[in-house]
Amino acid sequence: MRRKLVAGNWKMNGSAESIRGLLEGIKAGAAEVAAVELAVFPPFVYLELVEQQLSGTAIAWGTQNLSEHASGAYTGEVAGPMLQDFHCAYVIVGHSERRTLYGESDEMVARKFAAARKVGVKPILCVGETLEERDQGVTESVVERQLKAVLDLEGIEAFNDAVIAYEPVWAIGTGRTATPQQAQDVHAFIRAKLAEQNPTVAAETRILYGGSMKAANSGELMAMADIDGGLIGGASLDAKDFLAIARSGC
Ligand code: PGA
Repeated sequence: MRRKLVAGNWKMNGSAESIRGLLEGIKAGAAEVAAVELAVFPPFVYLELVEQQLSGTAIAWGTQNLSEHASGAYTGEVAGPMLQDFHCAYVIVGHSERRTLYGESDEMVARKFAAARKVGVKPILCVGETLEERDQGVTESVVERQLKAVLDLEGIEAFNDAVIAYEPVWAIGTGRTATPQQAQDVHAFIRAKLAEQNPTVAAETRILYGGSMKAANSGELMAMADIDGGLIGGASLDAKDFLAIARSGC
């Protein structure tokens, strides 16, 4: 049985004060949604604060990115061993904003995935097509290419310790969500691709949906056979909304 994961990608939002309040709210409601695993992804500078607030709770934390390198002259970057220092359970890799705004290639994303695994931090690998790609009918080949770069570098067994997030770029922050069936079709495709290499790993890998998921649509999305939770942006900045999404997955 795949336990659902509801992950809050806070992106470049929040302050020490707002994060304290947000975490208080999430902690207060976490017991009610214990059937679902919760995780939050603050900006790097708030990692220590988040660790302090969440240590000893069932809520996991991680970061939105990491360097492919372990240390060295890489100004402005944060390395895997540093995430380990702050006991991150997960790290998001290959988010579409990293791919499009910061030029991360499929190969670089694969190296970041490897860097995370090296230090025992589980990568959440984001894949997904743009609107143009969907309109051209190439969704599956785009997702397959993004997945293949990681499979080629790290192998199928790596997904024993990883999560995938399918995030159609056209649904991120736009208020436009994939229909449950549209999402399910791509999730099933991803699982089938994994199954070609190892059916057991495929059956156990969690595949999250991301892209304008909110309490109003999360229940029907998470009811689909291959949707194992959500990667939530906007709606994760409000404890009530975030918990309502988690509740719909219980
Ligand atoms: P959104 O973001 O929920 O605000 O659409 C999702 C994401 O980018 O992870």
